[in-house]
Amino acid sequence: MRAAYIEQTGPPDVIQVGDLPRPKPGPGQVLIHVRASSLNPIDLYLRSGMIAMPMAFPYVIGCDFAGTVEELGPGASRFRIGDRVWGSNQGLLGRQGVTAEYAAIDEHWLYPIPKNQTDQEAAAQALVGITAHLGLFQYGRLSAGETVYVPGGSGGVGSMVVQMAKAAGARIVTAAGSDSKLDLCRKLGADLALNYRTEDIPARLREFAPDGIDVWYETQREPNLEVAVPLLRKRGRMILMAGRAAKPILPLGAFYPRNCALLGFAMFNATPEEQQRCADDINRWVEAGALKALIGQVFPIAEAARAEQFLDENTIQGAGKLSGKVVIAIE
Ligand SMILES: NC(=O)c1ccc[n+]([C@@H]2O[C@H](COP(=O)([O-])OP(=O)(O)OC[C@H]3O[C@@H](n4cnc5c(N)ncnc54)[C@H](OP(=O)(O)O)[C@@H]3O)[C@@H](O)[C@H]2O)c1
Repeated sequence: MRAAYIEQTGPPDVIQVGDLPRPKPGPGQVLIHVRASSLNPIDLYLRSGMIAMPMAFPYVIGCDFAGTVEELGPGASRFRIGDRVWGSNQGLLGRQGVTAEYAAIDEHWLYPIPKNQTDQEAAAQALVGITAHLGLFQYGRLSAGETVYVPGGSGGVGSMVVQMAKAAGARIVTAAGSDSKLDLCRKLGADLALNYRTEDIPARLREFAPDGIDVWYETQREPNLEVAVPLLRKRGRMILMAGRAAKPILPLGAFYPRNCALLGFAMFNATPEEQQRCADDINRWVEAGALKALIGQVFPIAEAARAEQFLDENTIQGAGKLSGKVVIAIE
């Protein structure tokens, strides 16, 4: 089968595209004929070696997938051959990745694809959708009527946070780096979209939410807690999920006397049951037309290295040429 894989960690050009043996589904697994995968920053960290996780070579890149059930392993019973399914959380913690024609995946990581969604959209929403949901609801305990701020509303996680916060009846404010991206954020449902390059974000947030922000969903790798924490409302929650090397200063006087909370998580630690709850809501919102994956650029599998290079230029180096997700089409 055709696969995009690495034999060692390193820069994007360590990614090879070639033939690997088709995996056999083991007990409780399903063999998926993968039609699309999508890239996330963690793919860059794993491929470069910046984050070390157990990894068997050849290691197939990619966590997110969508495709069709091809074969059932012993005891697998949740899906039938021919079902369309999506999922995430592969290529992590020793599991093989998914940017290949076939992938053998434990059936508890699989969710049905709604009829009104393409495979590319389903793959594009996978990790970022589950991450947005965990942060907003499991950790942020968001309620209708509350105010959410997420920087990067046209980004992978941010575009999901904007739409989910809206679907949950919250007021949502976001920031992006260009006029066209601000338009996009408003189309996704943002009540207020600010240009982080030209506007005074703290002043505008104070104007928009004089009592403070209930849930600050931080997506940036260098969060500024000295700015963010005083802008939280009493009992406000700040979600921290990026920036392994960051050492922000915490202004304690604005934090504990106002019963605020800092909540950190990594989506790959969530159990299959926790991720299933996210996927159920995601599918419900997709079917209702309240959630749509934002696809920025599609690459064929032959150009998997270029796809990672492009994501790196944008998400790490800040080129600003990407809105939403990088998808890899697998034909
Ligand atoms: N903990 C977890 O489980 C988990 C899961 C997923 C992702 N993450 C992490 O979350 C981070 C975001 O991931 P992603 O996939 O959403 O990345 P992404 O698609 O690259 O999005 C980043 C967004 O940040 C915006 N941005 C850049 N500088 C900004 C600034 N100064 N103020 C406001 N917004 C700014 C960008 O907007 P412009 O394009 O307009 O510049 C872009 O929309 C990454 O560090 C990733 O590793 C963690």
